Amino acid sequence: MEFYLDTADVAAVERLAGVLPIKGVTTNPSIVARGKSDIYSVLRDMQAIIGTEGQLFAQVMSRDPDVMVEEALKLREVIPSLVVKVPVTHAGLSAIRQLTVLDIPTLGTAVYGAGQGFYAALAGARYIAPYVNRIDAQGGDGIALVKELQTLINLHSPQTQVLAASFRTPRQVLDCLLAGCRAITVDPAVAELFLQDPAVEDALNRFDHDWQARFGHADLG
Ligand code: E4P
Repeated sequence: MEFYLDTADVAAVERLAGVLPIKGVTTNPSIVARGKSDIYSVLRDMQAIIGTEGQLFAQVMSRDPDVMVEEALKLREVIPSLVVKVPVTHAGLSAIRQLTVLDIPTLGTAVYGAGQGFYAALAGARYIAPYVNRIDAQGGDGIALVKELQTLINLHSPQTQVLAASFRTPRQVLDCLLAGCRAITVDPAVAELFLQDPAVEDALNRFDHDWQARFGHADLG
């Protein structure tokens, strides 16, 4: 199971890296654009936090396959272990195939359909990223797509993994994991929602109250 944070917020990664068992961090152009730093600074700072074992992902920007490959090589000069995110389009599939020949790992991103994601797997993408919430938001069924993609790669491209993305609720995350998805990337705010049930704090307060009432102090003594 590979659990990633989907963010360009270095402070959030620093806050959660020691709390959640994250394997790494995925970024995309919009979340990098929301920050104050350039992509290379963000990636360097994050790699320093998650360590050399931590896996980072960053996306190419060009719509031209040859330039996508050049951008991928430039990103990998900064982060040699980077997985390069490539939109699954005509140009993106060509770039994924070129990068696969160069033994550069890719993630086929912006996946909204099973056939589209499957093409990325056939092109050699190590990961394919269906956008669960965005599919739900346009009236589709993101979890159903995850299940279809999972079945397709289990049957025909077992070296590829579904890395599900785009979540706004813990329920979407759990449904994805229950559907057998073995890699997932979650915005830190959504990831922390799993730890914000007020009933937990109430339970701890009751323990404190009962302990102090009996022993007169809060610690074990
Ligand atoms: C993953 O890295 C995707 O780029 C990201 O989750 C896109 O979907 P969102 O913007 O709806 O989260």
